[in-house]
Amino acid sequence: MAPKTLPFFLTLLFLLQLHSSAGQNAVRAAYWFSDSGFPVSDIDSTLFTHLFCAFAGLNPQTNRVFIASGNQAQFSTFTRTVQQKNPSVKTLLSIGGGDAKATDFDGMASQAGSRKSFIDSSIRLARSNNFHGLDLDWEYPSNTTQMTNFGLLLAEWRVSVASESRRSGNTPLLLSAAVFRSSDYYTINYPSSAVSKGLDWINVMAYDFYGPRWSSVTGPPAALYNPGTTESGSYGITTWIQAGVAANKIVLGFPFYGWAWKLAHSNNNGFFAPAVGPAISKDGDVGYAEINSFIAKNGARALYNSSFVSNFCYSGTTWIGYDDKESISAKVTYAKNRGLLGYFAWHAGADDKWALSRQAASAWGA
Ligand SMILES: *[C@@H]1O[C@H](CO)[C@@H](O)[C@H](O)[C@H]1NC(C)=O
Ligand SMILES: *[C@@H]1O[C@H](CO)[C@@H](O)[C@H](O)[C@H]1NC(C)=O
Repeated sequence: MAPKTLPFFLTLLFLLQLHSSAGQNAVRAAYWFSDSGFPVSDIDSTLFTHLFCAFAGLNPQTNRVFIASGNQAQFSTFTRTVQQKNPSVKTLLSIGGGDAKATDFDGMASQAGSRKSFIDSSIRLARSNNFHGLDLDWEYPSNTTQMTNFGLLLAEWRVSVASESRRSGNTPLLLSAAVFRSSDYYTINYPSSAVSKGLDWINVMAYDFYGPRWSSVTGPPAALYNPGTTESGSYGITTWIQAGVAANKIVLGFPFYGWAWKLAHSNNNGFFAPAVGPAISKDGDVGYAEINSFIAKNGARALYNSSFVSNFCYSGTTWIGYDDKESISAKVTYAKNRGLLGYFAWHAGADDKWALSRQAASAWGA
């Protein structure tokens, strides 16, 4: 190489490196949920930078994290399987979830000894099953003591992860947590400084604002905007930033499922229409692929509301609020413009031939 071109070459190399490290710092993620029955090998991992394997459990007697025996085969091969299509995708073992008992986490976090059991067992489990990280899904720490203990847990987890990395010589495990939509859980504040220091990022669950089991009217279940209310993704993200968590540690969550209501009157079929309970499934939750089948089968009318950033469809007395491509695009664009670290979806197996995952990746510019 001629000496004159060397500086140019080095500059280029430097820029390329900057570019690739910026790429690694984005999170374009989805959870895979074992109960969905969706085969891990069918995940199009090329559309994601990170995949969460959900869920590991917490044993309330031992305070150790465990993988249920029925999940062991899929979980232990998860990383290898998803890396077949995308060798650089990173995987995190997610612990807890909406169906886990919050009191088990509360009990574990309340004593130094049980926090240590949780932490040590989680790290061992992540390493022995080849995950790149751990994700805590405690729904939710719900009083000030629990929030303080949640903060202690994160701080101690971070110290242990760093020391394990020094001992083993391996890259430190990633640490994330799925958190409530806003920086307070019904006025009880999260310990935002411990959250910032302890975690690589937070997954903000900006959905389930309205649903047929707790809303007597239809509503935009995962609105990005809903002025004058706290029921929106933008409201929640703003509270997290105001609480002091940097935008580039925040990942915006959206659902690959909707909520179905049974309308009180078929001719009153907009937002905030009176409803009499769930439709389609027991609780009214319905995956995106199923929503598309419902629309096709019933010739349902499907609309997008750009004020809320929410899709909805209806046929007869069945009304579904959900995120279609327009909503996903608008949310990803919002995340990007606000300088957030990225986005995640719950859950991969509910997508319809990867339409939403692909839409999200392309809106991010991936
Ligand atoms: C928080 O909840 C725990 C367990 O439910 C309870 O033991 C504790 O006293 C509560 N603390 C406060 C401050 O309410
Ligand atoms: C969205 O829905 C709300 C409530 O029905 C309505 O006021 C608003 O005009 C709609 N926005 C758009 C763009 O359709």
